[in-house]
Amino acid sequence: MNTMTIQRFDLTPNSLGLPDEREIGALVASYFPEFYSAQSPAASKAYSPKVLPEGGARASDFHSLAPVAQQGGSGAQLPYVGTVSLEKIRADFPILSEKVNGKPLVWLDNGATTQRPRQVIDRLVYYYEHENSNVHRGAHTLAERSTDAFEDARGKIAGFLGAPSKDNIVFVRGTTEGINLVAHAYVKPLLKAGDEIIVTLLEHHANIVPWQIVAEETGAVLRVAPVDQTGQIIISEYAKLFNRNTRFVSMTHVSNVLGTVVPVREMTAIAHGFGARVMVDGAQSVSHMPVNVSALDADWFVFSGHKIFGPTGIGALYGKEDVLEAARPWQGGGNMIADVTFERTLYQKAPDKFEAGTANIADAVGLGAAIDYVSSVGMENIAAYERALVEYGMKELSTVPGLTLVGTAANKASVLSFVLDGHDNMEVGKYLDKAGIAVRAGHHCAQPILRHFGYEGAVRPSLAFYNTPAEIDLLVRTLRGL
Ligand SMILES: Cc1ncc(COP(=O)(O)O)c(C=O)c1O
Repeated sequence: MNTMTIQRFDLTPNSLGLPDEREIGALVASYFPEFYSAQSPAASKAYSPKVLPEGGARASDFHSLAPVAQQGGSGAQLPYVGTVSLEKIRADFPILSEKVNGKPLVWLDNGATTQRPRQVIDRLVYYYEHENSNVHRGAHTLAERSTDAFEDARGKIAGFLGAPSKDNIVFVRGTTEGINLVAHAYVKPLLKAGDEIIVTLLEHHANIVPWQIVAEETGAVLRVAPVDQTGQIIISEYAKLFNRNTRFVSMTHVSNVLGTVVPVREMTAIAHGFGARVMVDGAQSVSHMPVNVSALDADWFVFSGHKIFGPTGIGALYGKEDVLEAARPWQGGGNMIADVTFERTLYQKAPDKFEAGTANIADAVGLGAAIDYVSSVGMENIAAYERALVEYGMKELSTVPGLTLVGTAANKASVLSFVLDGHDNMEVGKYLDKAGIAVRAGHHCAQPILRHFGYEGAVRPSLAFYNTPAEIDLLVRTLRGL
């Protein structure tokens, strides 16, 4: 019998390290002064989403903020992210100067993938021009250079995530591969028939299907933490899912459809109270807010490089020392072994134990450059800027006739999903594309949460720190013309 008591958490934006409504109002006004008049109620009265009936927010359900200037576009001075001007940031991303269908590109598909700054592109070129070699073997200079660059990138990721050591970081292809690794190498060997794995209703398919596969193979059962009408996890219901059969919890940090910022620290503490280990899917969080895996106390944490301005085909999996030690090797081959005979193989310690074969060396190095880039702007600065931009986007989108915002949690990051009365989502996406605006339309690989809110799909503009209020204005103006 588990006698652990469950701590009560008063979930407020401040308790999650996020600004409260008043602070957000001030932030919005300070970041986009040209969009708000000095006397505007925006500075004193923050936008506050209501708790809404199931089916999502109606545009009319949102408080109206201060009157917004008609057009902040080309003439308006771009705001700053921390001390760096948005103008400089945007100049670092060559593709943002691209024209699409004769119009300047407006990249609002950051949830699917982000764009790369010149610094990352140049780092890849430099690697191939000056350092290219396989790593960890060979007695020559280029092997040393590439090994140094590769391990240096691992160290940068460890520092960025607040991990104790670079040995806690395993290079993987991305979030999907990291979750599959943990499911098969760590969780599956723990499972027997009747054991339970907890996920949440918010999960991307990448954090559902691997658990279904190991559950099917072992007779384990998947349990799902519900959300409230805003799309936030109901912590009291989550806590009720635990019992003596609970073995593992895997949850997203930020929902890729609703933008909900999940209180993973509190949820991890509850899971640990019941002796269950925890994995956090950081695919949608690392590029939008500071993350410290030690403070979260997550046992595993994973993210994809391409969602944080780095290359595709590379990501990082963090594991605590003891879970890395306990996990079985996941693939066999070169690099992960200490000694091989036909009778037995001795494995390397983590992280090498999980990195069989030749790694994606260049892209790991490129990911290190992406980490350097966001660190130079400052993750706190990025989080504050984006928070203001999300609030602005929600307020402005809610003025479009027939538009329903999907996902209205108080703690929300980067995502502005919506549906438009009388219009197919794909039709909206294609129409916006004609104006140079790239958004995603469809089920976003997270069908359960969309269906929970009564939709088969949605249109999803998703933001990064290089997006501007003027781009939001263009999105809104274009939608009004549909
Ligand atoms: C929350 C979440 N988890 C996992 C993934 C899968 O990431 P990847 O395709 O880079 O492996 C995504 C991708 O959109 C995501 O948004």
